[in-house]
Amino acid sequence: MSIRLFIANWKMQKTVQESLQFVNNNLEKLSKLKHKLIIAPTAPALTALHQLLKETDVALCGQNCSEFKTGPYTGQVSAQDLVESGCNYVLVGHSEERAASKLTNEQVVEKTLRIFEAGMIPVVCIGEPQEIRDAGTTQEYLEEQLYLIKRAIQGAPLYIAYEPLWAIGSGKTPTNQELAKIFDTLKLFMQGCAFLYGGSVNQDTVQELKKLEQICGFLIGNASLEFETLYRLLQE
Ligand code: PGA
Repeated sequence: MSIRLFIANWKMQKTVQESLQFVNNNLEKLSKLKHKLIIAPTAPALTALHQLLKETDVALCGQNCSEFKTGPYTGQVSAQDLVESGCNYVLVGHSEERAASKLTNEQVVEKTLRIFEAGMIPVVCIGEPQEIRDAGTTQEYLEEQLYLIKRAIQGAPLYIAYEPLWAIGSGKTPTNQELAKIFDTLKLFMQGCAFLYGGSVNQDTVQELKKLEQICGFLIGNASLEFETLYRLLQE
């Protein structure tokens, strides 16, 4: 499978103004990309970015959403809010969010279901910390993260982003041999899902990672913040 999907995870690293400038300054190039780009900005930037991106094929992704449909949940953003702000995709269970909110796998399932109900595609993030890798139990750990989702979604289309925690922002990546083994097993476990890799995808690592046949794209943090850096990754 050739790589075709790039999700730019901007985390909380761009203000609304900076997000708009990124798009405004590069609209022409963003209109003629070789691969599909999906931008995940902060929630307050979504509506304005949606307007700006109308003439392009670039899509928008929420970084998180509430496990609840509606109700007295101060500070939360619902899946419906994200649709109405222009999103087609939403990240669920990014490791930074799992850690900050002490998310359980049950909550990740609820969020995934709210995203489906609102008509969007969930991008469920999974990944093991260093100590699990050292213990050699990565596969069991990942399957536990996915087990409830597998039961709940019953074959609905879903993206799964595998992001080893020790690879995020570290410049380190697993070898292709390690990744091929992990994705082959995940593919059997979650049949019908599409897989992305995330964790230090950048100019130095992307060529090798693109050789992985099991994945259809990447989730990119740091290397998505500067337009020219991201553009180079998308052009190759
Ligand atoms: P990174 O982040 O590309 O900076 O490693 C990836 C992510 O956290 O999604």
